[in-house]
Amino acid sequence: MLDIVVCVSGGGTNLQAIIDRIKAGEIRDVRIAAVISNNYGVKALERAADAGIEAKVVSPKDFENRALFNEALLETVKAFKPGLVVLAGFLVNIPEAFVREYKGRIINIHPSLIPSFCGVGYYGLKVHKAVLERGVKVTGATAHFVDEGTDTGPIILQKAVNVMDGDTPEVLQRRVMEQAEWEILPKAISLFAQGKLEIKDGKVLINE
Ligand code: GRF
Repeated sequence: MLDIVVCVSGGGTNLQAIIDRIKAGEIRDVRIAAVISNNYGVKALERAADAGIEAKVVSPKDFENRALFNEALLETVKAFKPGLVVLAGFLVNIPEAFVREYKGRIINIHPSLIPSFCGVGYYGLKVHKAVLERGVKVTGATAHFVDEGTDTGPIILQKAVNVMDGDTPEVLQRRVMEQAEWEILPKAISLFAQGKLEIKDGKVLINE
């Protein structure tokens, strides 16, 4: 059984996709040991409660400085002894000590086809606004391992999504979530749990 901790910041729709796929038996031998949010009162916490999953809030507002927050975040995660940490809409820069502690065991979902529209400042709706501004015809989502950079870790899975005429950032975000994020993040977790992911020379091999 692989215990995972899922880190969230807001809506928690990616968390919900993981919960639903575990319940449906599409992800086997995985248990969400805890949900950790950096914000109080967000929908993701309701989703955790509805699913009977322990949830913790580690908010920067509760700490005198960033270093104390970073330390508390890592200690809170470590307490659950996860074999994998999943960043599901988690809008926090993961501190170096955290990445070191869980090297090769942190997966993030990013709402674009990395290396496009990613890196510092590209998160949530900002990504889709930039996609529409540039006029690309295809976007999508990327599930990747987290390294010391921002959206720079080895890519696990990607899925393309068409941009339609008249799309607003909100409409496009929803389509990318529904058609890509909610599919590839659970799949990446499942592949990891089955031991089918291998990182070699910075690339991910999937040993199906
Ligand atoms: C989504 O845009 C997702 O791509 C990004 O965070 C946003 C909210 O995700 N990672 P969620 O609904 O909180 O899972």
